[in-house]
Amino acid sequence: MTAKLIMGTEIRETILEELAAEVKAIKQTHGVVPGLVTILVGANPASISYVTLKVKTAHRLGYKEIQDNQAATISEKDLLALIGRYNQDDSIHGILVQLPLPKHIDEKKVLNAIDPDKDVDGFHPVNVGRLMIGGSEVRFPPCTPAGIQELIVRAGVKTDGAEVVVVGRSNIVGKPIANMMLQKGKGANATVTVVHTATRDLAFHCKRADILIVAAGVPGLVKPEWIKPGACVIDVGVNRVGEKVSEKTGQKVAILKGDVDFDAAKQIAGSITPVPGGVGPMTITMLMKNTLKSLKFKLGMV
Ligand code: GUN
Repeated sequence: MTAKLIMGTEIRETILEELAAEVKAIKQTHGVVPGLVTILVGANPASISYVTLKVKTAHRLGYKEIQDNQAATISEKDLLALIGRYNQDDSIHGILVQLPLPKHIDEKKVLNAIDPDKDVDGFHPVNVGRLMIGGSEVRFPPCTPAGIQELIVRAGVKTDGAEVVVVGRSNIVGKPIANMMLQKGKGANATVTVVHTATRDLAFHCKRADILIVAAGVPGLVKPEWIKPGACVIDVGVNRVGEKVSEKTGQKVAILKGDVDFDAAKQIAGSITPVPGGVGPMTITMLMKNTLKSLKFKLGMV
C-alpha cells in the first residue's frame, strides 16, 4: 500500500481562492480590505525570505500590506512604540513581528505589546488563553497548527474519537495543536497524547496513533515501524540537512528533510504530508485567513 499524499501546495491554492473571493465581496459591500503589517528587524536571510513570501501572498489577495523593515540596532523602546502606533491604526487588522529578534530585544515583551485583537500569529497570552477555552472564544489559532488542522479536515481524515499523538511540546506547534485536537467540534474531538524528550517509550505511543503529528525538529526521528498501518502522518519538521544546486534556477538551495522517514513511512501510512510541500505552505495561508478574520470581527461578521 502507498499512502495518499496530503499536498499542502494544492490545498493552499484552494484556500487562497476562497479567501480572495471573500476579500472581493467585503470590499464591494464595505469598501475595506484586510490590512497587514509585517515588521522585520535586521536582515536574517531566512526571515527575509519568509517575510517576502508573506508580502507576496497578501498582495495576491488584494490586502493592504505594509512591510516595515527596521535596522537590527533599533531599541526595544522604539520597537514597542512602533507597535503601539500600528495598534492604533484602524486600517491595520494584523500585526506580525517576524521572529527571531536581535538579542538586545525581549521577544516576550514585544509579542505582549501587540493588541490581542490584531495578533494574527496567535502568540499573545490572551489568544493562547482563548485557544485553550476553545469554541467561540478562539480568535486567532496559531498559523502552523491551524494549517495542520485544515490539512487533516480537507484530506477527509476522521478525527472524532481518533487517537492523536503529538511528538513535541513547543509553544508554536506541539502545545497548541494538542489543545486544538482535543476541543469539541469539527476536525477535533480526539483523544490526544503529547510525547516529548522525557517520554520513556516514544515508539509505544506513536504505534497507537490514528493521526501522528510530528514536530520535533529531529530529521528522520520517526521510524516506519512506529507507524500504525493506515495512519495519517503529519510531518511538521523542516530540517536543513545540506545544500544542492536547483535544476530550475541554478542557485544553491537547502536540502530539506522531515522528522519522519518519508520513503519508508509512505509504504505503511494511509495518508502522509511530504517535506517540502506538506505543512509548510499552510502557515502563510493561515496567516492570511487570520488577518481576514480580524477584519471580519471588526465588521461584526463573526
Ligand atoms: N519566524 C518563523 N516562523 C514564524 C511565525 O510563524 N511567526 C513569526 N512572527 N515569526 C516567525
